[in-house]
Amino acid sequence: MTARIAFVLGTRPEIVKLAPLIRACEKAGIDYSVIHTGQHYSDRLDGVFFDNLELPQPDYNLGVGSGEHAEQTGEMLTGIGTALDAENPDTVLVQGDTNSALAGGIVASKLDAELGHVEAGLRSFDRDMPEEINRIVIDHVADRLFAPTEKSAAHLRNENIPDERIAVTGNTIVDAVQQNATLAERKSDVLDNLGLTDGEFALMTAHRPGNVDDKERFEGLLDGIAEYADKTGTEVVYPVHPRSEEQLREHDIDVPARIRCVEPLDFLDFLQLENTASVVFTDSGGVQEETCILGTPCVTIRDSTERPETLSVGSNTLADPTADSIIVSVFDVKSGDNDWNTPFGDGDAAGHILWALGFDSPEVGRVVRT
Ligand code: UD1
Ligand code: UDP
Repeated sequence: MTARIAFVLGTRPEIVKLAPLIRACEKAGIDYSVIHTGQHYSDRLDGVFFDNLELPQPDYNLGVGSGEHAEQTGEMLTGIGTALDAENPDTVLVQGDTNSALAGGIVASKLDAELGHVEAGLRSFDRDMPEEINRIVIDHVADRLFAPTEKSAAHLRNENIPDERIAVTGNTIVDAVQQNATLAERKSDVLDNLGLTDGEFALMTAHRPGNVDDKERFEGLLDGIAEYADKTGTEVVYPVHPRSEEQLREHDIDVPARIRCVEPLDFLDFLQLENTASVVFTDSGGVQEETCILGTPCVTIRDSTERPETLSVGSNTLADPTADSIIVSVFDVKSGDNDWNTPFGDGDAAGHILWALGFDSPEVGRVVRT
């Protein structure tokens, strides 16, 4: 088969979740190229993930960088258009719900190439989140929708997207965790480096504009987690996303002493902390999934989640940014035995997606699936 795939990506979670597909293309000899918008550019959000996941450097880096949504997305549209004209792929794949995925989706939907959306059909039903708008638009312009679960496929059908465009494939995050968790255990020195003991600390992330751009809410979230930490004698480690770092500075917020701020971590170090933390506090999409896969209880400090499967299996619970809500939520989510089933597939989402795209000769299938 000589068909050619172009991946469009731009941020940390897209690199993590497209890595299994890129690696599968490498193994199976499928011709592909990678167009990086440059939405994330700091080494700790970008370069370290290519290194960790042993990915080749992108064929294009558009260097778009940060900016207002309209400006950032507009610049991406032009750059992606030029790159896709040069590449002339048969299939363009975008993942998730970022501005990079939106821009890739809009450009590709007007070309002859088939547009595939990896992680289609997620809905928080909260249109104040830019990601919700991005997901809806991408799903409605895509030709092929790779839904991670039956629930996400049902959202697509409810929005009258034809069934023949939808395939339930699992989420490539399971592939990424399975491919890297043991490696992380073996290679990562993060516990020693941070002086932490397995099972005796909590991990947190917070980067959503809805949480960190609002001073009162960001302070409530930090104070609430610190109060939980005080009451239980738990140390909390917080790898701070650059957006949050900026907001801490701008709003002149003092992070409570119980919370230890560190630079964003590479994927192996972060996986190792997720795997050994007693509980994880987050507002991240990927972290809700990874904790569910790894068997670590998670408290999501948001009003809604587009990953309700994690609530159903009992790995995750939603909390308000207050001490009372956070403390009750931790005890609630930790009251089970952490042996829930992973609702995001069998760890071969990349193989299922490539098969659905027609890379189904026994030779390719065998290679993709090993
Ligand atoms: C973006 C995605 C979000 C995703 C997150 C993953 C959109 C609308 N949002 O949010 O869905 O969860 O990525 O982390 O696409 N910055 C740096 N270095 C970088 C990148 C950003 O310092 O490499 C700083 C800049 O000051 C920038 C801010 O972080 O203004 C926010 O970056 P941006 O890419 O706009 O959004 P994220 O919050 O990262
Ligand atoms: N992550 C990481 N280092 C960190 C924080 C997160 O490697 O310090 C990884 C995490 O394992 C997950 C991804 O980044 O795979 C999630 O990205 P993020 O939370 O930025 O975005 P979201 O998933 O919310 O879109």
